[in-house]
Amino acid sequence: MRKTLLCAMLAVSAATGAAASESRQDSLYLFSYTTSAANNTTGLHLAWSADGQRWQKIGVEFAFVKSDYGPWGSGKRMYDPVLERMPGGAWACSWLVGKDGKTMALTESRDLLLWKPQDYVSSRAKMGPNRSVPRDTVTFTDGSRAVGRILRVESRVVEDAIAGCELAQYRAAKNAELMKDDPARFKGLKDVSVTVTAQPSAGKAISPDLFGVFFEDINYAADGGLYAELVQNRDFEYTTEGRKRHKDWGPTYAWRTSGGASVEIKTDNPIHANNAHYALLTVSEAGGALANTGYGGIAVEHGKKYRVSVFGKMVGGDNRRVRLALRCKDGRTIGSAAVTLPKSGWRRLEATIKATASDPEAELAVIPEEAGQYAIDMLSLFPYDTFKGRENGLRRDLAQAIADLKPRFVRFPGGCVAHGNGLANIYRWKNTVGPLHERKGMYNIWNYRQSMGLGFYEYFQFCEDIGAEPLPVVAAGVPCQNSSLGGDGQQGGLPLGEEMDEYIQDVLDLIEWANGDKSTTWGRVRAEAGHPEPFGLKYLGIGNEDLISEVFKERFKLIYDAVKARYPDITVIGTAGPFYEGSDYEYGWQFAKELGVPMVDEHYYCPPGWFIHNRDFYDAYDRRGPKVYLGEYASHAPGRPNNMETALTLALYMTELERNADVVSLASYAPLMARRGDTQWTPDMMYFDNTSIRFTTDYYVQRMFGQNAGDTYIPATVAPDNAREDVCLRIGQSIVRDKETGDVIIKLVNLLPVRVDYKLDLGSLVADGTPTQEEHITGTPSDSRAKPLKAEGTINKNHTIGVEPYSFTVIRAKAGSKGKK
Ligand code: AHR
Repeated sequence: MRKTLLCAMLAVSAATGAAASESRQDSLYLFSYTTSAANNTTGLHLAWSADGQRWQKIGVEFAFVKSDYGPWGSGKRMYDPVLERMPGGAWACSWLVGKDGKTMALTESRDLLLWKPQDYVSSRAKMGPNRSVPRDTVTFTDGSRAVGRILRVESRVVEDAIAGCELAQYRAAKNAELMKDDPARFKGLKDVSVTVTAQPSAGKAISPDLFGVFFEDINYAADGGLYAELVQNRDFEYTTEGRKRHKDWGPTYAWRTSGGASVEIKTDNPIHANNAHYALLTVSEAGGALANTGYGGIAVEHGKKYRVSVFGKMVGGDNRRVRLALRCKDGRTIGSAAVTLPKSGWRRLEATIKATASDPEAELAVIPEEAGQYAIDMLSLFPYDTFKGRENGLRRDLAQAIADLKPRFVRFPGGCVAHGNGLANIYRWKNTVGPLHERKGMYNIWNYRQSMGLGFYEYFQFCEDIGAEPLPVVAAGVPCQNSSLGGDGQQGGLPLGEEMDEYIQDVLDLIEWANGDKSTTWGRVRAEAGHPEPFGLKYLGIGNEDLISEVFKERFKLIYDAVKARYPDITVIGTAGPFYEGSDYEYGWQFAKELGVPMVDEHYYCPPGWFIHNRDFYDAYDRRGPKVYLGEYASHAPGRPNNMETALTLALYMTELERNADVVSLASYAPLMARRGDTQWTPDMMYFDNTSIRFTTDYYVQRMFGQNAGDTYIPATVAPDNAREDVCLRIGQSIVRDKETGDVIIKLVNLLPVRVDYKLDLGSLVADGTPTQEEHITGTPSDSRAKPLKAEGTINKNHTIGVEPYSFTVIRAKAGSKGKK
């Protein structure tokens, strides 16, 4: 987009000519106001007038600044804004964030376009701008009216505001381009021919860790997903908080009694303080049972073995035998084991069940053999066949699907899960390690409970198992900026002093836990959990797209300084907001540069057109400044599908990430996976249920990049035989070399409705007849079912290859085995 900016500016200055010519006078009137449209969420609007009578809106509902207070959706409202000029010429804007008038937002700007991160204060506080200024009512040229405030300003202010608005609208129109309009856009377009001349001697080193994954417990990705536990709510700790999601959510959710049994939830003498609830099962005659129905059923396979375990004890009476049985809906038992509950004192009991039949929707029943009262907690069922056979392990198919992406790193646990909904919801890694029944589960920001069964230990182990670097993220001492549990000040922060100091210590302890040897306090904890060797942590994220407020900055710096002092080799990753522009992005980067943070985490979910028009996004990034971690990105088309349009726009952009991988060190699509029927966010890279996975076109493209990454980028001159800018923007290529294999990897992306013939001049990169492995995906833009096809072939120094309309092709030249097939 930056390249096209000049044309945009020319277009904009033509448009602003009208305002300029009407405004030959030195000053004009500027009117600021908001409206009640969309529940008061449309932000601050501006209009101008030369004579104070005829008022022209600047843009249509164009927001110069929007409220950032409160949760997404119905939050983020603006009432009664006051725009004022400050001494020195900068602007101050304040507004009330709710009808109750209790909380006021404050922000400042130099140019009415880029605003500082907002502060939120009590409207009764004796600070901030004067809000008792008179209000004016104006009638616009379109006949509508609004109440706001009139200021007299230099003409330049109005002209700049109009130019800023028009430029933003010009960019928005480009970003909104969709492939459904290609038939009209490219009517009559002939096949394109592109000559690509590689420059092997100009190869540059790029990040070997570029493509990784971001795993967050959103969409039931962990419990009910990757975490192989088959019992839901195994600890009876679901609370009524979850009724936002399911009306009957609570301690007995996913449990049912049968055969005259009854169940009561008790809290006296629990198995652990972090696991306060348990079930007291009363059975008056043999046959009564308490059963768990899993996540919409428990899927078991004929002949497979399952590890079943339970904490239990008798309440009154002697030791008693209990059958733990897999049952079908028709009551058939398809595998069981017996355990004996002690007459007193909790005991963990474990057995193996072999399934005698397959059933995708079985239940696991606790069936006492005699009447009595049975205390039950932590009923658990795992397949033995987990990924790498690990106990308390991961679902093999899902873990393998992630491994197949060949991720160089795994970011965990969030995202918003890392910083949580309000201070009390900040994710604490120490709550997620140690014996399962002592872990502290938590209701998460995505409105369901996380057991923490897939905790930091399991996460680090998984990284090691798939050869990926762990990239844990800790909150920067502040919760999510969209927290609904904030109160005045919204974001809030851990109190400075003892509480913050403890938090910083927790962060240092995490590094010791990961990297310390057995002689260290936390290294020993890791070793005792089963991993004597250090995990070799290199990266640590601090913060997640936070509001770059003073509260954030103070806490980030405290954590950052402590980590840097104690562990100078750790690459700390800072944060720069949830968008590719705006206050958190600008001020987040400025702050990171001031502190010298080595890497900054950027997030942006953008329409497909954005990825076409912003291919040069990283070209101007300072190579001497912090590196980039593009921690969350996805192509969001209307309706949020995954299809060839979303996948190919990302393929195009990813070739640019490779080209810029001297400054972009890491990148991960988001979110990674979603449970069908329990999805809070679309699109995702893959969708699963209890027995299957649906891979999306986005998944395939990510896999093609992950499996074909390199560590040297080979620049090339690219000469299409068509000079149209919209054509050239839709053709992409990259060439990388992988040191380890010696392979040269060529990626070709075609976002056009016509064929593109690539004439490749590869020079010394390959010998004639070099064998290749090729992978290719194509389909119409709306195709959501396309799959890649593989082929083998050979490549020559001078090679022509035609690629189909709307396609992505990877050619892996086995240059290490020159000339041989
Ligand atoms: O990827 C889903 C969410 O998007 C992440 O939790 C958050 O960081 C972002 O807003």
